[in-house]
Amino acid sequence: MRVTYRSHGGSREYWDRRWTNAPVDSGALNLAKYPGKFAQAVADDTDGPMLEAGCGLGRNVIHFHNLGRDITGIDYIQTAIDKIKDAHPDLKVRQADVMKLPFDDQAFGGVMAFGLYHSLESGVPEALAETLRVLKPGGLMVASARLDNIQNRANDRIEAKKYQGGELKFHKANYTGAEFRTLLAEAGFETEKMEYVENMPLFYKFRFFRSPKHKDFDEGLGRGEGYQLSWLGNALQRTLVTLFPRSFCNIVVAFARRPAA
Ligand SMILES: C[S@@+](CC[C@H](N)C(=O)[O-])C[C@H]1O[C@@H](n2cnc3c(N)ncnc32)[C@H](O)[C@@H]1O
Repeated sequence: MRVTYRSHGGSREYWDRRWTNAPVDSGALNLAKYPGKFAQAVADDTDGPMLEAGCGLGRNVIHFHNLGRDITGIDYIQTAIDKIKDAHPDLKVRQADVMKLPFDDQAFGGVMAFGLYHSLESGVPEALAETLRVLKPGGLMVASARLDNIQNRANDRIEAKKYQGGELKFHKANYTGAEFRTLLAEAGFETEKMEYVENMPLFYKFRFFRSPKHKDFDEGLGRGEGYQLSWLGNALQRTLVTLFPRSFCNIVVAFARRPAA
């Protein structure tokens, strides 16, 4: 596991600032892309209540709530929860830490957790065990983690160049697929498959390679539609990702099940 440090505050300050500065998500979700495709996989597998741990500004919970599905979201950033509640008073969201979930054992048939565990500075095994506790036997969790690979090392170098002083603090952990699978197994999950996916393409860091609609960075647009590249950016990114998925995707997604009783 490799840790990325940044000077813009710790993980919690980062999420607090990010969610304070953006509006609530619309609930429009691109089901062909991360995370929509993977959220849908949980929804397809789950009969009954679902949990999104680390729901942020709500794109997944709002999407499935609007479809009439039974979904609950938690996040430790109060501002994000307040924004979702203001827009959807009947949506089941609450402020909570994944280290101590305010739910009964086996309360959910499925769990989605995107970019959550790599945001934890410590206690990842405990957080995974806590997630397992609220999942029914046989239930599916789909969880993503930031990859330790060429793409994210390059990304971290680009960000490090912007460093203007200040104390470096924990930002995110980076795992290889094998490391993430081991953590899940140690917590009691059975991993059925791992997919290497691209959320934020490296080329999206450069305005030149973004699609015309995305030239000016818009958090809501990127989160709803996916971070879209120009024709050239897409061709370059596709080539790298197709030839070397483990090196040029930025996220690994695990399909991990609580063993049936
Ligand atoms: C990558 S974001 C994903 C947001 C959302 N799932 C989505 O797909 O848009 C990770 C989320 O995890 C939340 N988070 C980080 N640490 C947490 C913790 N200990 N307990 C609960 N939420 C946490 C952050 O506030 C952030 O909203």
